[in-house]
Amino acid sequence: MFIHLKSIDSTNNYIEKNHFPPGTVVWADTQTAGRGRGDHEFSSPPGGIYFSCLFKEGKETEKGYLLPHDALLLTPKAAVAVCSSLEEICSIKPGIKWVNDILLDGKKVCGILCEHIKDKYIVGIGINTSASTLPEELKATAGGIGEAPRKTLVKSIAKKLFDPMDDETIVSEYSKRLDTLGKNVSFIYDGKETTGTVTGINESCNLTIRAGSATVTLSSGEIRVI
Ligand code: BTN
Repeated sequence: MFIHLKSIDSTNNYIEKNHFPPGTVVWADTQTAGRGRGDHEFSSPPGGIYFSCLFKEGKETEKGYLLPHDALLLTPKAAVAVCSSLEEICSIKPGIKWVNDILLDGKKVCGILCEHIKDKYIVGIGINTSASTLPEELKATAGGIGEAPRKTLVKSIAKKLFDPMDDETIVSEYSKRLDTLGKNVSFIYDGKETTGTVTGINESCNLTIRAGSATVTLSSGEIRVI
């Protein structure tokens, strides 16, 4: 199913509350209560691209079903799907800030929120188009991709997300676009503020960082480029 709405609180909430079949895509022109990771809001002015894709666990080979193992790389797969569609359709070269922010010219243009709620895996993707419609306080760190064929992008990204992609391909396609590679970053490790240099990602898309003589592996959390 492909559902287009003019306005909704959040496309992730809408999928969670309704009984749609796996493989459903819900796309909205604007969200009144768009959500980001943690308790962050996701500003969703009209003109941007806001959509969610529904997966369920199952052995079926039909669109929208996944095995528990596939869920582990769902967020990186979504980041790869967004970047490759933006490259093909908009001729831009975005990068990935680990773990799941998409950057253009150093500014965040897209966020991804993957949620596992009961039997549903919901992948929510928000892409800013015009930077000028974003709230003033975000303008230093967030940008937009510019005018874009929104429906074409939604369809292309959703197709790449639902199509099978093996783990090695996800990791190598993600790694190619990793914007943070070689950068000095700070992060919280073992409850302490730590700094180091990003050396890459491992086969699970965890971030590897050289911190002094040690190599630290992060599976989640935030890093800050310093
Ligand atoms: C983040 O940057 O922390 C993630 C942002 C995810 C935003 C998308 S927009 C479509 C879907 N609906 C939501 O409420 N959130 C996601």
